[in-house]
Amino acid sequence: MDRLIIQGGTTLRGELRASGAKNSALMMFPAALLADEPVTISNVPHLRDITTMIELLGSLGVEVVIDEKMNVEIHANTIKQFRAPYDLVKTMRASFNVLGPMLAHYGHAEVSLPGGCAIGPRPVDQHLRGLAALGAQIEMDDGYVKARVQGRLKGAHIFFDVSTVGGTEHIMMTATLAEGETVLENCAREPEIIDLADCLNAMGAQVSGAGTDTITIQGVESLHGASHRVIADRVEAGTYLIAAAATGGRIRMRDANPDHLEVLITKLREAGAEIETGENWIELDMHGERPKAVSLVTAPYPAFPTDLQAQIIALDCIAEGTGTIKETIFENRFMHVHEMNRMGARIRLEGNNTTAIVEGVRKLKGAPVMANDLRASVSLVIAGLIAEGTTVVDRIYHIDRGYEQVEEKLKNLGANIQRVAEP
Ligand code: EPU
Repeated sequence: MDRLIIQGGTTLRGELRASGAKNSALMMFPAALLADEPVTISNVPHLRDITTMIELLGSLGVEVVIDEKMNVEIHANTIKQFRAPYDLVKTMRASFNVLGPMLAHYGHAEVSLPGGCAIGPRPVDQHLRGLAALGAQIEMDDGYVKARVQGRLKGAHIFFDVSTVGGTEHIMMTATLAEGETVLENCAREPEIIDLADCLNAMGAQVSGAGTDTITIQGVESLHGASHRVIADRVEAGTYLIAAAATGGRIRMRDANPDHLEVLITKLREAGAEIETGENWIELDMHGERPKAVSLVTAPYPAFPTDLQAQIIALDCIAEGTGTIKETIFENRFMHVHEMNRMGARIRLEGNNTTAIVEGVRKLKGAPVMANDLRASVSLVIAGLIAEGTTVVDRIYHIDRGYEQVEEKLKNLGANIQRVAEP
């Protein structure tokens, strides 16, 4: 297992490019299972989660062709198996979303229930309710969801009880092949949902309203091949912007969409950053100053994303003043707090562990740390960058799930960081 060794105290400066969005790209793979012809996805990031998804399609017998530029071509009609096994679904919940597309296209599918994960229980009840409303017969057997339909699924009016990104995506894509109209209400509005709808429409689907809380899908009989380019990863871009702000630095993010990061930009300005934006770039300058503490509440898009909460806590650790960070999406997403406290941070959890009160200190101290969630792990890298001395971040396979070439990108910005294999 690899670890990252960071000598803290450098200021991040320079220019870098945001990769393709992990959470968008991941959904294009199940979506491609709906088509009768090959679907080509470009700007796919080179990440462990993407490899897991490719492995999952491989286990279904689906041919996936990848070129050196990470253009990925998926041939759904080569499918041979209709069962997604536990060992692949448990490592990555996004795999659960192959259920609906296989069902809609081929009439049956079996997918393991994903189970719990490091950041909370994360149920799939909204996915299952949606599929049932579209006419799927669903049975649970031995930890697997077995779904069938005679003929085609049928359009329905579905109201989500909670704002769910994966649930909205799952039912939206499945309904593209249902007979008649489907109306989804109380949908999540994340940019990745719009990106998925664009990809589906390029395949011949008729989806409208993605990005609002009501999505309407006119079902079609079949979908054809298409090429689609994945949008920029707003969470990756946001992570580097926060890292630069925390170190007092100055960076320019290329290929990033500032419209997708509006709240973060507001919060970083509150922290003292000067930020300029263009159509596809964001420039941040902290002028070497210590950040001011920011407070926020995570909530579904367009509010502050839970996927940037841990990184903002790292910034608040060394900020002037006290920040209050409330997490409302996941139950167990503060594991980085205990590790940061070991580095000299002053953070206490309140309100049944839903709120972190971060009292800024002038400096953190390097320490060996680890976390078992992607965003928590990368927040410890930021903590390492602003700490005195050496920080060793262990179990970085979590970071490799969602950050392409993290140490290369940080090195280019002047960080003193190395990846080493565990002895
Ligand atoms: N929920 C339910 N029932 C459901 C589905 C969700 O109660 O059937 C609850 C969840 O337990 C959670 C809330 O609804 O409390 C939101 O979950 P959501 O379904 O929106 O999350 P997700 O689709 O499983 C995606 C991202 C996450 C990101 C969340 C929230 C992908 C592949 N994953 O997860 O990304 O944190 O939305 O924005 O898109 C990450 O990249 O590090 C990551 C965890």
